[in-house]
Amino acid sequence: MYILGINAAFHDSAACILKDGDLLAAAEEERFTHIKHGKRPVPFSAYELPFHAVDYCLETAGIHLNEVDKIAYSFNPALFMETTGDEQISLPLQPSAHEKPLPEGTSVWDPLFLSYIVNAPRQLSDGYPHHLQKNFIDSEVPANKWIYVNHHTAHAASAFYPSPYEKAAVWVIDGRGEKATTRYYAGENNQLTLLKQVNMPHSLGMLYEQVTTHLGFLHSSDEYKVMALASYGKPVYADFFRSKIHVGDCGDYTIDKLDLEKNLGPKRKRHEPFTEKQFDIAHSLQLVLQETVLQLSQWLYEATGYKNLAMAGGVALNCVMNAALRDNGPFDNIWVQPASGDAGTALGAALQVYFDDEKNATRHFRMDHVYWGPGFSDDEIEAFLKWTKVPYRKMENVAAETAQLLAENKIIGWYQGKMEFGPRALGSRSILASPLHADMQQKLNEIKDREDFRPVAPVVLEEDAGDWFENASVSPFMLFVYHIKDGKGDQIPAVRHTDNTARIQTINEKQNKIYYDLLKEFKKITGVPVLINTSFNTRGEPIVCTPRDAIECFWTSPFDALVINSFLLTKS
Ligand SMILES: [Fe+2]
Repeated sequence: MYILGINAAFHDSAACILKDGDLLAAAEEERFTHIKHGKRPVPFSAYELPFHAVDYCLETAGIHLNEVDKIAYSFNPALFMETTGDEQISLPLQPSAHEKPLPEGTSVWDPLFLSYIVNAPRQLSDGYPHHLQKNFIDSEVPANKWIYVNHHTAHAASAFYPSPYEKAAVWVIDGRGEKATTRYYAGENNQLTLLKQVNMPHSLGMLYEQVTTHLGFLHSSDEYKVMALASYGKPVYADFFRSKIHVGDCGDYTIDKLDLEKNLGPKRKRHEPFTEKQFDIAHSLQLVLQETVLQLSQWLYEATGYKNLAMAGGVALNCVMNAALRDNGPFDNIWVQPASGDAGTALGAALQVYFDDEKNATRHFRMDHVYWGPGFSDDEIEAFLKWTKVPYRKMENVAAETAQLLAENKIIGWYQGKMEFGPRALGSRSILASPLHADMQQKLNEIKDREDFRPVAPVVLEEDAGDWFENASVSPFMLFVYHIKDGKGDQIPAVRHTDNTARIQTINEKQNKIYYDLLKEFKKITGVPVLINTSFNTRGEPIVCTPRDAIECFWTSPFDALVINSFLLTKS
């Protein structure tokens, strides 16, 4: 049975395909279209489907859209406005035409948004772009194939079913779904039981988004920059945020409506330099988010009695919060879905439809890596290199030769195997560099045209992680920060954040052999089993997908070399 999972309602448009409950392929639309997050999360873009990601999934499965058995879409319009689907909609030409005040958390464009989602099956069979005809032409999407899955159920399914746990508390925290902003579940075998739901307009995710906008960043995109800023500040405004968030006894919370300009002063304009005050706002928000989540986690722990926690939702990408939960929360183990943003709901929706259909199926798919996107063979890449007349040479020993270049402080584009699913580059589409000199962070930020305050993160051999980072064992998805051990920070100054932490990726041989071998070789030369790993892109661009993307990015940016599968490209 083939199940196609689609996320398209808000942003992080993505698709995946399951065959009998096993994941065959998953990818985000942004990597094919070069539009970050696929699209902006506005009602006017809700009709856009991730056709390129769907096409990649169909191609990998070797099937036409007609051969898909079920299509799981990670948003349920019936829950959004409690519609029967037969209503007419009316729309104002502009918001000001709508004079009546609307309930908080609703928009005058909600009917338009809903209409796009209700018509998504027709859009999938008829709206594909011209160049993707092969896998779509003459396709039909009958109503019985198309299943709308509750957005938070899709997040929860993405967190629990691929996790290593038979039983776990499951927690979804994001901006919003149809109405929910936070949901708690108990997961056991192939079942998720809903325990509690917090609804709009009370949303920790949207609070973080609101502050992101106030600090001059792009909301629903740049929240990780606020998290990075937070480490430079002091908790000056913590009491302000504390006074606005009210945590109940049963996992519930409310957040007062905030007027940040009135309470915290004018919004920062995009290109203005940062002030101490903005660092303090970010710090206070991050601190109070952590405090709130710790309080709520206690209820979830007691309600389920489980020692394991599985998490998803955009807020679960906050690796500083995740570390606070790991260090100070009640759970023994935490697994976070690596595609915790909305992209992961494509996977969760598909898995939920599978277990709804196959009630006796056991969970056999465990997500121990993220390499589910397009990959290219040496033959394909060499044919492309020859065709472009780009100078290259085939390497004898990719790991050893690349490690030597890295030890000479060269900055390397590293393109190997299948592309990552989820927002992090984890060794397939990465830029790698030596962490041994402090100035490498600045160099990388310049090369990638990123803000000065942005840290770069390390990858470390899994077996050595505990020697370099406090209590580190397995952390393959860069979703937790760790303190650097005493005496080690000076050896890897480029990845040491201002608070002596680092957002690490651990790697073992099974997950990604060539990447693991590279770290081994680098350790052989330098004695350090750590490299800088940052995403293979430049500012505002999604991570590269194809060999063409990689070569274009390499030749238009000041990297020193590109290692693409077995081939080395250098600049003289
Ligand atoms: Fe979401």
